[in-house]
Amino acid sequence: MSPTPPAAVIVLAAGEGTRMKSAALPKILHPLCGRSLVGHAVAAAAELTPEHLVVVVGHKRDQVTAHLAEIDPSVRAVVQEEQKGTGHAARVALEALAADGAVLDGTVVVSYGDVPLLTAETLRRLTGAHAADGNAVTVLTAEVPDAAGYGRILRGAAGEVRAIVEHKDATEAERAIREINSGVYAFDGKLLAQGLGEVRTDNSQGEEYLTDVLGILREAGHRVGALVADDFRDVLGINDRVQLAETRRIMNDRLLETAMRAGVTVVDPATTWLDVQVSYEPDAVIHPNTQLQGETHVAEGAEVGPNCTLKDTVVGAGARVSNATTERARIGEGAQVGPYAYLRPGTVLGAGAKAGTYVEMKNATVGAGSKVPHLSYVGDATIGEGSNIGAASVFVNYDGVNKHHTTIGSHCRTGSDNMFVAPVTVGDGAYTAAGSVIYKDVPAGALGVTRPQQRNVEGWVERRRPGSAAASAAAAARARSGSDGAPEATEAASGA
Ligand code: UD1
Ligand code: CA
Repeated sequence: MSPTPPAAVIVLAAGEGTRMKSAALPKILHPLCGRSLVGHAVAAAAELTPEHLVVVVGHKRDQVTAHLAEIDPSVRAVVQEEQKGTGHAARVALEALAADGAVLDGTVVVSYGDVPLLTAETLRRLTGAHAADGNAVTVLTAEVPDAAGYGRILRGAAGEVRAIVEHKDATEAERAIREINSGVYAFDGKLLAQGLGEVRTDNSQGEEYLTDVLGILREAGHRVGALVADDFRDVLGINDRVQLAETRRIMNDRLLETAMRAGVTVVDPATTWLDVQVSYEPDAVIHPNTQLQGETHVAEGAEVGPNCTLKDTVVGAGARVSNATTERARIGEGAQVGPYAYLRPGTVLGAGAKAGTYVEMKNATVGAGSKVPHLSYVGDATIGEGSNIGAASVFVNYDGVNKHHTTIGSHCRTGSDNMFVAPVTVGDGAYTAAGSVIYKDVPAGALGVTRPQQRNVEGWVERRRPGSAAASAAAAARARSGSDGAPEATEAASGA
């Protein structure tokens, strides 16, 4: 049974995060597996479906608030003007909710914006234990290998939680304790407000400590409990870029494990990176050095990689994508992409279609079974079914001011090295000759040719490049063919 949704979740995220040494981007906006750090906190909180979801912002608040509005419009951003401690931050949030007219009868969860591995599952276990034990406050704790810097959990003889002491305020004996405060709690909403009213600032940092509420409530005779996290890594906070990378590794390993257990073959987990939004079907295969980002989906039996970066891309069943970069593309069932292809937004490949080697596409719909096998750019185009685009073709879509569309029909065969100067249409079943610049429509079934005539200047090499290897080869060829004497300067047109 899932516990009753909390009245509020308050995510503390006003701090500067100086150790990140990040000038442009606030610490909590750094990306991690498809979300910002604070995005992970908000997503986990939102899964509990609280009545109110508050994020306390301070440092770079405009940037952070804009980001929050984008990722979850239901989030209430509350400004903490000065960072006077975690207790002060929680108080500012409660006061803003009260000003909104909110009555916080139930549970209020407090968490942090920089603890991205904390899952909704763990939060649910916390609120579940909190309700089951009838606590005034339940703190999420963890046994860590190195407790330096953390608040320590002080327990009594019967194992009951007595208080939390900050590292800076702790005695030597208290510093030896390895059970730490994660900074995540479930509170009774009313008692939290009461307790915060009594918090003082007579500590080494001169701050209002949220942790002091535990001792205050306990002394007032209320039940104070703790839930020990199964895995201390669930509550790891990110303070610098080393921890960011470590956390990315942990989160990615978890995402990969889930994928593999769901039937996805991951050839090399060490070089495969997933975002949390990625989805897949059984028997998908991911080859080494591949990143699947955003809302990418890999269907049954499709193979992606090696060396691919796919963003917001749908890969159809049985498709094959190798050495490719794609963004907002849809790759049909059994289609082939790469090696060395770049599919930009708006590319739609039909079933069995192909975007081959050194092919770039953008805003292009390629019908079922149509192929663009080699060295081509296809921009702003519609290609019908069963057509073949010759090697080294360019869909000339841009006149320097506007983009124009090219339409190629079904079952066309266009020659190599064609320029399709948009807007232009090639009708169904039409052919175009190699080397043509197609700037006028080609009717269905016609052959479009814009090729200049070829002329051969006989004997040119022996006359004009005497003594060269080419001239020797030409002379030898002439001797074999039985013609005598160096050729005259005659010209012959070839072709039709
Ligand atoms: C806090 C806890 C400590 C715990 C540790 C876990 C207190 C007094 N101490 O310590 O027991 O082990 O977290 O990481 O609570 N914040 C605000 N406004 C403020 C101050 C902080 O929003 O005025 C936010 C920060 O952005 C951060 C979080 O609260 O996300 C924790 O603040 P931080 O200063 O890192 O607390 P610690 O000293 O690490
Ligand atoms: Ca911290």
